Amino acid sequence: MGKTLTVDSTSRCDVLIIGAGGAGLRAAAQIGEQRPGTSIIALTKVFSPQKSHTTTAQGGMAAVDPKDPVDRAIFHMFDTWKGSDCSADQNVIKKLCAIGWEEVVWLERHGMHFSRTEEGRIAKRPFGGHMLDFGETLAFRACYEADRTGKGIMDTVWAESLKYGVNFIGQCIATELLCKDGHCIGAIIFRYPEGKFFAILAKATIIATGGKTRMYLVSSNCRGNTGDGLALALNTGLPVMDLEAVQFHPTGMVGPGILASEALRGEGAILRNKDEEPFMERYAPTAKDLAPRDLISRAIIQEIREGRGLFHEGHNAHHVWLDLRHLPKEVHEKKIQEVCSFFKRFVGVDPEKDLCPVTPTAHYQMGGIPTNEFGEVQGDTHGIVPGLFACGEVAAASLHGLNRLGTNSLLELITMGRVTGEGVVEYLKDAKDPDGLPPDAGHIIFDQFSTYLHAQGKEKYAEIRDTLRNLMMEKVGIFRSEKSLLEAVDDLGELKERATHIPPGTTCMRTNQDLWQIWELNNLITVSMVIAQGALARKESRGAHFREDYPKRSDEFNYHTLVYMPKFNTVTFDKRPIDMSIFEAKGDHYELFDYIQREY
Ligand code: FUM
Repeated sequence: MGKTLTVDSTSRCDVLIIGAGGAGLRAAAQIGEQRPGTSIIALTKVFSPQKSHTTTAQGGMAAVDPKDPVDRAIFHMFDTWKGSDCSADQNVIKKLCAIGWEEVVWLERHGMHFSRTEEGRIAKRPFGGHMLDFGETLAFRACYEADRTGKGIMDTVWAESLKYGVNFIGQCIATELLCKDGHCIGAIIFRYPEGKFFAILAKATIIATGGKTRMYLVSSNCRGNTGDGLALALNTGLPVMDLEAVQFHPTGMVGPGILASEALRGEGAILRNKDEEPFMERYAPTAKDLAPRDLISRAIIQEIREGRGLFHEGHNAHHVWLDLRHLPKEVHEKKIQEVCSFFKRFVGVDPEKDLCPVTPTAHYQMGGIPTNEFGEVQGDTHGIVPGLFACGEVAAASLHGLNRLGTNSLLELITMGRVTGEGVVEYLKDAKDPDGLPPDAGHIIFDQFSTYLHAQGKEKYAEIRDTLRNLMMEKVGIFRSEKSLLEAVDDLGELKERATHIPPGTTCMRTNQDLWQIWELNNLITVSMVIAQGALARKESRGAHFREDYPKRSDEFNYHTLVYMPKFNTVTFDKRPIDMSIFEAKGDHYELFDYIQREY
């Protein structure tokens, strides 16, 4: 059966961060600032942290300046609650909206170049669902650096991490969490260039591996977003939460689905159907093109279904138009130049002169590894896993519930990064050095890798991946039904079985791309199964989760879905209550934080 897999070496640190994107490195910077000398190792799957998916974020970060003459944190809190379709946790909404502006100032003081107004203030643009006065008029709340806000954030948090001596390890994956006596004590890592496993023992571990939407045919995510952190948690027997809530951004560039930022509509771009009619007026009479993403994505698909979409021969895909032709030249050249250059480069159209073909693209996961408001990972309905934290897109505290407003992701990533860093500093006060490796260290991943390395058969990685992407798009996409979801569960079971028959091109461990990709594919199939099962169980429509057979929201489902799947398709469900603390406190405007109707 070939050679035995072993842990090659073991090292130690105070804090292990799995994932070196915006959230992980904001946490690292916080730990470094508050507790200089802490030894931190940050792992990244890519070559350099600067290639993390955070870098691709475009439109902005929502935050209310306490000195703003018209905007208020409570308006932002209300919009986030309403946007979530009454499924976010109110303690988290309150906490993160309150500290958002401090984080904008933190970024600015640590080097980020926010765009400025003529008067020199940080510039802000409108985004869907962000309103003044509890839904009356558009709020200018998204702070941005042109249309490359994520790049500005990454430059800043990366530089801060370097300042505090964070040790980066690139081209590696965390393949198994190490746990002893109910505590997390680190992880087993696999490094691609050497093809070796090593263990890192840590007093505290933070999972910050980002998103997962590469199981969809059309996705704005980078190729490495394969749900690895979620699979890591599931394999350890931990729950994941609300995975059925997948956000489709309405404007992906036709074809691959590269993001065409909502900032374009914030600057005045208009969606049009094949007759060039601005159709959003019919779906969201007040908010129109700046309605929340779930509503616009469904409207686009509805237009296409009713014959008012278009077909792109080159990409073999349906689409509608995004019209930017009327925007001033200065907007094209200074505020949205990067996205405009993407349209020219990848789609062959010039947004100043041509209509741009767009289609909904799988963009974001609202759910994730459940945490409390301090970033501590929930082990079950009763408590946390000491030593284990999670933040960023892989985690769900939950600010977004089942639907997120644009620019609240960067808000969440940065604020929860900081809060998690603070939580880790607190935890380190009493944390002990782990004694050593648990006796069964590596048993999960050695078993998986041995199966992949010695697989026999004629299955092909790319065929299974493409089948997965098509089936998720078609059956677990924007519109779902019992029939489509049951089919998806069956299909996923079949794909999982087929994936055990992909023979790798080589069994050599060094730079074995097949092995790496098969591991990613298995993570995608695992996470897809949880999405499908969660969607099947939630017999209602709420936020981004839309069931054609249950098109209304139902109070029966006023909870977060917790799913455990330690073995493929052996699913156990649990519930986490929605935190209603703003409503229950009965302060000013508390009644707006009840289960209100969601109209735009
Ligand atoms: O449209 C955008 O620029 C994306 C923003 C977001 O997902 O928050």
